[in-house]
Amino acid sequence: MVLKGKKITVGITGSIAAYKGCELIRYLQKKGATVRACITPSGREFIGELTLKALTGEEVLSHWKDGKTGLEHIFWARWSDAFVIAPATANTIAKLSAGITDNFLTSMALAYEGSIVVAPAMNCQMYKNPATQENLKKLKERGYLVVEPSSGELACGEEGEGRLAEIDHIYTELLRSLLPDYLKGKRVLITAGGTREYFDPIRYISNASSGQMGYSLAKMVYALGGKPVLISAQTCLEKPYGAEFIQVVSARDMYDAVMENLDRADVVIMNSAVADFRPASYSGSKLKKDRESPEVRLEANPDILKAVGERKRDGQVVIGFAAESDNILENAKGKLERKNLDYIVANRLDVFSRDEHSGWILDRDGNVVEIPPMDKESSALYILEKIFKR
Ligand SMILES: Cc1cc2nc3c(=O)[nH]c(=O)nc-3n(C[C@H](O)[C@H](O)[C@H](O)COP(=O)(O)O)c2cc1C
Repeated sequence: MVLKGKKITVGITGSIAAYKGCELIRYLQKKGATVRACITPSGREFIGELTLKALTGEEVLSHWKDGKTGLEHIFWARWSDAFVIAPATANTIAKLSAGITDNFLTSMALAYEGSIVVAPAMNCQMYKNPATQENLKKLKERGYLVVEPSSGELACGEEGEGRLAEIDHIYTELLRSLLPDYLKGKRVLITAGGTREYFDPIRYISNASSGQMGYSLAKMVYALGGKPVLISAQTCLEKPYGAEFIQVVSARDMYDAVMENLDRADVVIMNSAVADFRPASYSGSKLKKDRESPEVRLEANPDILKAVGERKRDGQVVIGFAAESDNILENAKGKLERKNLDYIVANRLDVFSRDEHSGWILDRDGNVVEIPPMDKESSALYILEKIFKR
C-alpha cells in the first residue's frame, strides 16, 4: 500500500461537498495511511465531529479545547506528513491567501511546512470570480498544490466548473506532495492495455491485459514529479489525473502514436500488451453466421519495442515489460539485449487482469532486483524508485 506508514491530515470546510471529505478519509486509509481530520466551525454544520472521530479513530481538531496546551495546531502540523484541504471553500481559500488564522484549520495551515493540497468546491460563479481566481493563483505561486474542480451539475442546480475533483485525483496530487521528485520535469511516454485487432466492425482479437499496470505507472510518474504521456489501448479504466492521454485501438495505431511522441520523451515505458498478430483481412460489414465459418488468417504486426530500441537517442531511458510463462529471467534477458532496452520488468503471465504484481527488474549490467508481491500501484512506484532513485 502506497501510503503505508504515512500520517495525513484531511481538512474539511463548510461546503455542501463536505461529506466527500469523509470519502477521502476512507480512500486514504485504504491506501495504508493513518488519517486525522480537522474541520472548520462552518464545516461542523455539515459533518458531525462524531462521524470524523469514528472514521479516523482519532481526536478531531475543530477548535482549541479546554485542558489542552493551546498549541495543538502546531503539534498537528508537525505530526502530518501531508495536509490536504478537501473540500476547500472560497472563504477558506481567501483566508489562506491572506494568511488569516481565525480558526484551527487555517492556523494549522500557516504552521504547516510542506506543500498543502487544496481541492476547491463551490458554485461556478463563486469559482470564476476574480477574487477566488486571484487567491488560487497566489496559493499556487506559494507552492500549494491545487486540484482543479471538475465541471458538471452543481448542488445549487447550475451547470459549470466548481465540483470537487474526483477523490482519486486528490489522492494523486497528495502523492505528489509527499513523494520525492525523482522524475522532475521528465517527459515519460507510457503504453498500456491490450490492443484490439478487428476483423469486422465489432469483432476483434485481443488479450487479457487490463491496463492497470500502465495506468498505475502514469499515476506514479506524475507523483514523482514527471510529465506522463499515456498511450492507451481501450480499457475500462478512468484516464489518470495529470497525464496527457492518447487513445488508440490497434497495434498499428499504437506504433504511429509511439513514433510520433518518441523523440520528445526522456523515458519510455512500454507496458502495453501489443498483439503480435492481426487478422490479414477485414470485413467492412458484420460477418454473418449463416455463412460458412470464416477462416481468420493472421499476419505480423509491427514490433514497437524493437523500433523504439533502434531509434533510441543518447540519454533516453527505455524500459520494456516481458510477461513469460517459463524461463522467465532467461527470456527477459534475451529480450532486453535483442531490443536494445535499458531495463526490463519480467513477470509471470498470471499478473494479467489481477490487482497484484510481482516479478524482477533486470538491467544491462546483469543486475536483477526482485519485486515482491504487492498491489499494482505500489509495484509501479517500487519499479520507478528502483530505477530513478540513482
Ligand atoms: C448549504 C450551504 C452550502 C454551501 N456550500 C458551499 C460550497 O460548496 N463552497 C463554498 O465555497 N461555500 C459554500 N457555502 C458557504 C460557506 O459555508 C461559507 O462561506 C462559510 O463561511 C465557509 O466557512 P469555512 O471556509 O470556514 O468553512 C455554503 C453554505 C451553505 C449554507
